[in-house]
Amino acid sequence: MSGVGPDGSDGEAQGGAGPDDAAMRAVLGRFASGVTVVSGIGPEGPVGFTCQSFFSLSLAPPLVALAPSRLSVSWPHMHTRAAFTASILTDRQEALARAFSVKGRDKFRGVGWAPGTNGAPRIQDALAWVDCRVERVHDGGDHHLVIGRILAVEVGDGEPLVFYRGGFGSFRA
Ligand SMILES: Cc1cc2nc3c(=O)[nH]c(=O)nc-3n(C[C@H](O)[C@H](O)[C@H](O)COP(=O)(O)O)c2cc1C
Repeated sequence: MSGVGPDGSDGEAQGGAGPDDAAMRAVLGRFASGVTVVSGIGPEGPVGFTCQSFFSLSLAPPLVALAPSRLSVSWPHMHTRAAFTASILTDRQEALARAFSVKGRDKFRGVGWAPGTNGAPRIQDALAWVDCRVERVHDGGDHHLVIGRILAVEVGDGEPLVFYRGGFGSFRA
């Protein structure tokens, strides 16, 4: 993949293969972010995964983007139905964030949720909800780069859950 370096030079020419995994983790882990659960409906009910790579992309048209791994088990179901909801988590939902980052179990067992305007689950007591239609899916290396068209949004209560350097915390403005 080619790119332009911070000095305007060809990024490829600077590094060739690029930094190693440990350096990538050390640097990119210093990008603090909120935490979402991205969820939809599969053949046997609600599915979802904890997702940090969620961001606001465009206001007009209203778009968000996220990057599900190619290994994600839940994402293909959302892709098939072209619908997902991002529930932005509060700092009281760390256990939920951990539970949705584990594969191979019924993650929604004991979790309160209600369908959003697109039918995808909104996690109860989240900080906010973004109901989307899958607009486009691009190649993102070992991830997909998904663009979602926002159909509806709603705000809840609380303070955000924050992910930073592999750990969870909270933020007060
Ligand atoms: C804080 C946090 C953020 C995460 N962000 C992402 C992400 O942006 N994309 C992704 O594919 N996986 C992300 N994961 C990992 C997935 O949640 C994890 O691989 C999960 O098991 C995928 O579930 P699935 O295979 O059932 O879809 C994150 C995990 C944590 C703890």
